[in-house]
Amino acid sequence: MAVLYDEHKQVFHLQTKNMSYAFCALRGFPAHLYWGRKIKEADPDRLLERQERASFSPNPVPEDRSISLDTLPQEYPGYGSSDFRNPAYAVQLANGTTVTELLLRGHRIVSGKSQLEGLPAVYAESGDGAETLIVELEDAASGLRVELSYTVFPAFDAIIRSARIVNGSDSVMSMQRALSASVDLPHDRFEMLQLSGAWGRERYIHRRALVPGTQSVESRRGASSHMQNPFFALLSEGSTEDTGEVYGFSLVYSGSFAGGVEVDQFHTARAYIGINPFDFSWRLEPGESFQTPEAVMVFSAEGLGGMSRAYHELYRTRLCRGAFRDAARPILVNNWEATYFNFNADKIEAIAKAGSELGIELLVLDDGWFGRRDSDNCSLGDWVVDKNKLPGGLKDLADRVRSQGLQFGLWFEPEMVSPDSDLYRAHPDWCLHVPGRRRSEGRRQLILDLSRPDVQDYITDAVGAILESAPITYVKWDMNRNMSEIGSALLPPERQRETAHRYMLGLYSVLERITSKFPHILFESCSGGGGRFDPGMLYYMPQTWTSDNSDAISRLKIQYGTSIVYPVSTMGAHVSAVPNHQVGRMTPLKTRGDVAMSGNFGYELDLTLFTEEEKDEVKRQVALVKEVRELVQYGLFYRLLSPFEGNETAWMFVAPDRSEALAVHVQTLNEPNQPLGRLRLKGLDPNGRYELLGTGRAVYGDELMNAGIPKQRPHSDFASAVYRFRRVE
Ligand code: DGJ
Repeated sequence: MAVLYDEHKQVFHLQTKNMSYAFCALRGFPAHLYWGRKIKEADPDRLLERQERASFSPNPVPEDRSISLDTLPQEYPGYGSSDFRNPAYAVQLANGTTVTELLLRGHRIVSGKSQLEGLPAVYAESGDGAETLIVELEDAASGLRVELSYTVFPAFDAIIRSARIVNGSDSVMSMQRALSASVDLPHDRFEMLQLSGAWGRERYIHRRALVPGTQSVESRRGASSHMQNPFFALLSEGSTEDTGEVYGFSLVYSGSFAGGVEVDQFHTARAYIGINPFDFSWRLEPGESFQTPEAVMVFSAEGLGGMSRAYHELYRTRLCRGAFRDAARPILVNNWEATYFNFNADKIEAIAKAGSELGIELLVLDDGWFGRRDSDNCSLGDWVVDKNKLPGGLKDLADRVRSQGLQFGLWFEPEMVSPDSDLYRAHPDWCLHVPGRRRSEGRRQLILDLSRPDVQDYITDAVGAILESAPITYVKWDMNRNMSEIGSALLPPERQRETAHRYMLGLYSVLERITSKFPHILFESCSGGGGRFDPGMLYYMPQTWTSDNSDAISRLKIQYGTSIVYPVSTMGAHVSAVPNHQVGRMTPLKTRGDVAMSGNFGYELDLTLFTEEEKDEVKRQVALVKEVRELVQYGLFYRLLSPFEGNETAWMFVAPDRSEALAVHVQTLNEPNQPLGRLRLKGLDPNGRYELLGTGRAVYGDELMNAGIPKQRPHSDFASAVYRFRRVE
């Protein structure tokens, strides 16, 4: 049983393989009891410490001064009736006040997991043994009701939470805040880890000890963003990559979010995550409800690495969907850094021809094939092929590429409109804007108002028509600016602050329609690289272009940081030209290949310019990727050496049955007279013998993990080595 209920003590105890999560009703208040390593019993008499505190922590039951909402660990706290910490929700009632108080009214336990209407979500498959607990809370005085949903899969040490907020009254309510989850942890001896950065340097790891007050990550950009990721982790004191208790909080959402921790006066830590309450409100008519996105909370007693592998497995197999979830991803060449906007059909065919000789499987035609798009100044929205560049149209080009033996993929940026476009001239009110105000442009473009059904239909039809017009098997779905002047021409004043979330719902609806209509197409999400690398997008598109920064050395930090939450099967990684276009760095072709092969592998350069020597190296890379891509895609990922902590980076992949492994090691700068060093591996069977391919020597897994292997030390900067192991006994 994954969800246990003790009727007598009113305790809900959710159990997975190694984890317990428990709460109870204390005089109706949903009180959190425990989250951590698995325990057999969760008894409130022992787990809930009740003690009278100062009068500044008031008591809801005057005769029992041991209960205070200000100190009680809670499941979905409110504000206004004496808990002074960050609330999970806030609703303005018809009388203008925001005072509410939720008490437990009932619950139900159902097998499996239902999908969230209109939102991306983790799913269960039959045989998973998943169970969902739905707890019903009510504020009797106002008629506000909340249903908290908790799903557990026995195999994953994770709790998947969301809330549905219902207006059960006969007057309008205005929701000001509706987070997905809130958990009160009993102490603050944690470090908070977050993934933060900027365009071209996304998801760098930052860690800091918690201090009293609120520490948070958030986006106000209308996208999850390059700058912050909808994720944070709490690492118990002394945790490492392999040891210690770690709690992860990840939000299945692609818009503005907030997540954080508040340390209170008694050094407890309230962790929360959800839609950013900033500039958000939602009007609930009588009987209407609001569904929050889903929060995925992972517990690991095996350090940060254990937490990452839990997210990887859950997101790779129960969030990503479709035919490509379990299919080897094609090796591609993308023409963006090869040609930018300056190409024609002959040039693209020449790249495909060169790719065919090298064993490449897919050509992706990037930006510039439509409208009059010779620069990034115009034409977004006009999804009509540019006959000057491609006189025979897309079908003709796709056929020419396919005749070279490669599949054909295409770039779109469907959510945008250029002011210089026929679409904008016909529908100037179809973009996000506020009447009478400037429409701020980013890359000379505005954002279509996807909260509008007519705009949703336009995008679905325009993209769909192109996809039907040619044999296209891959789509790169780009998005290159963040929201400003957020307003919708169709919404009344009292609903304007719903626009950003309605945009996300509109986007998800469009993505659902398009991806389900074209199930044979592999969709890759992109937002100027990794500006929307989040679980929400992964539900529709199983991979993301990790970063516009394609430099192999920059990619060490970007891919290492991204791997904290996201499976390697979701990361696009390409070999690009040198000097690198983003940072000007010269790196060996081998290193560029070794780093890119730890992701969905491809090339992003002009293949026709390779020398014979380079072609030989590329053929070797392509052949190797074809041998190891399943291991990389489905294997367990172990981080060995962090680029954030030194001059070396290493990680490895181990097959689920531990029959083979692949380790990648990169030295950033060379140094004279370096100390000797060994690379200690992880995740192998200690009792299995593994042959290091190319040496003919077989060594026990325990030695490989505990004593390690000598590191190759090439005599240059930016040098890499790949080690492959096959179990022989
Ligand atoms: C941003 C993307 O991240 C790039 O890979 C490329 O597709 C450009 N947009 C095209 O405009």
